[in-house]
Amino acid sequence: MCGIVGAVAERNVTAILLEGLKRLEYRGYDSAGVALFSNAGVLERRRRVGKVNELEQSLAGDPLAGRLGIAHVRWATHGAPTEQNAHPHFSNGELAVVHNGIIENHESLRERLQGLGYVFTSDTDTEVIAHLLHHKLRDIPDLAAALKATVKELHGAYGLAVISAKQPDRLVAARSGSPLVVGLGLGENFLASDQLALRQVTDRFMYLEEGDIAEIRRDSVQIWTAAGLPVEREVVQYREGAEAADKGEFRHFMLKEIHEQPKVVQRTLEGRLGQEQVLVQAFGPQAAELFAKVRNVQIVACGTSYHAGMVARYWLEGLAGIPCQVEVASEFRYRKVVVQPDTLFVSISQSGETADTLAALRNAKLRSPKEGGFLASLAICNVGISSLVRESDLTLLTQAGPEIGVASTKAFTTQLVALMLLTLSVGQVQGSLEPGVEAELVEELRRLPTRLGEALAMDSTVEKVAELFAEKSHTLFLGRGAQFPVAMEGALKLKEISYIHAEAYPAGELKHGPLALVDSDMPVVTVAPNNELLEKLKSNLQEVRARGGELIVFADEQAGLNDGTGTHVISMPHIVDALAPILYTIPLQLLSYYVAVLKGTDVDQPRNLAKSVTVE
Ligand code: G6P
Repeated sequence: MCGIVGAVAERNVTAILLEGLKRLEYRGYDSAGVALFSNAGVLERRRRVGKVNELEQSLAGDPLAGRLGIAHVRWATHGAPTEQNAHPHFSNGELAVVHNGIIENHESLRERLQGLGYVFTSDTDTEVIAHLLHHKLRDIPDLAAALKATVKELHGAYGLAVISAKQPDRLVAARSGSPLVVGLGLGENFLASDQLALRQVTDRFMYLEEGDIAEIRRDSVQIWTAAGLPVEREVVQYREGAEAADKGEFRHFMLKEIHEQPKVVQRTLEGRLGQEQVLVQAFGPQAAELFAKVRNVQIVACGTSYHAGMVARYWLEGLAGIPCQVEVASEFRYRKVVVQPDTLFVSISQSGETADTLAALRNAKLRSPKEGGFLASLAICNVGISSLVRESDLTLLTQAGPEIGVASTKAFTTQLVALMLLTLSVGQVQGSLEPGVEAELVEELRRLPTRLGEALAMDSTVEKVAELFAEKSHTLFLGRGAQFPVAMEGALKLKEISYIHAEAYPAGELKHGPLALVDSDMPVVTVAPNNELLEKLKSNLQEVRARGGELIVFADEQAGLNDGTGTHVISMPHIVDALAPILYTIPLQLLSYYVAVLKGTDVDQPRNLAKSVTVE
């Protein structure tokens, strides 16, 4: 998705802006641009379709310099990914604007501004902001004040930054629905859509809140609320080690993040497990009282996070006896939902900024429990300062650390751990768990990082298996019970990064349609822990073999499945059934990774995808 960087300093800021853009590359984008207030006293810009590298090369050949500047990586929504549509957008050579999000009323604004004589040079919604602000500046000369008047007329979501050739000592910004953070330096200040972009210049940050307008000068930062009142935002010191944005010994961020899973799962469990019980207060001081009232759970999420929710449904119903529904946020938010009494709303999100998930939470909060609304909201999220966390009643933070690869890996397994903690907490408070289950699972959770390490040791075995896929165009993933969402996640990973068409089915559905697709060109991947569904799964596998389909089975070492013609069995360490979805995710992540490497795709930044989808 789009990313913003801005700087106002006494030195040339071009290199700072470019480095910031590079750090935002992981979000996925298709063009990049920069605008500077040059030493000659005019606004200059350079934009390029493609990677930041191309912009950098162009600037190396023909440099731009200035002490005030803004830069952007764009992920096309309105208008194709062309140089003309790339940001920054100008108005009359006087203003430069970069914008994340979508301006929904851009068409009517465009007509009005064209009527006022403004000439548009792009197909973007963003350009209306530049011209509207230019128009406002006629009556309101101060840039921040004019921006306040401008945003009142914008409908939709935005995080935006503006510089003006007429007021070149400042950078102004506005946030509504798309995050922005101010980075504080010494005699210089910065702005970005993600603090990661600024970590090379500062570790002190001020997060803008919804509706905030900011004026950033070299030696001061002033912020106003949506109501126009001056406000102070807390200065936060960043703590995470700077190594997070570095691939280290690994060839890709995705592989590094896959291998970080034992460590981050351990971190997610830290301080949350007692001797034989989950510590319910990890969810917040009022959690125990609230969980006692919960009669139903509604989970809402997107993408990989949605798959984590699907696994949790098996756990909440199977272990804690709590009815649970799971829905993708883009559907949930527009549906007239009938809420069962005492339903806990649970959102799951790596970023905490996914537009659909946030909108679903906001809708959920519109009605109080007495008016037929939800009992309370809980966010399972990886970013403590995200909108989702700020707007939810309860939070459980996954401790995955920054995830750079667009295809989510460690965020997923830590979400699963968090959801297991939720299941056990609700079950504990309500006394609905079978005797001994909590103590056993707490013990098994403690061992989980070691188990994940064992699964990661299969790396080179899985790398060999990946060769079976290099020439294929279609695959099927099968699972039963809580392994069905794991199969869905495996299929999603493969399609995201290798562009091979992959479908997941509950194994029992095979004969109701997908079996028609099975032939020797269609590898079938299956996850087979040793549980009560194993025998049924074995019959499903026979159905595939009988049609000449090639089977790749990740099976429990005690499952009694063996290699044979057309059947490749990869033995997995034994694990208690409830935690099997977490363990079996690992080989599927490795499989998609190695297939993508063989196919030579852009593993960390797959085509057309974005890390954090902050637009609808
Ligand atoms: C995008 C990412 C996925 C992610 C999904 C939800 O599609 O590419 O990896 O699962 O958004 O993101 P969230 O941050 O809400 O978990």
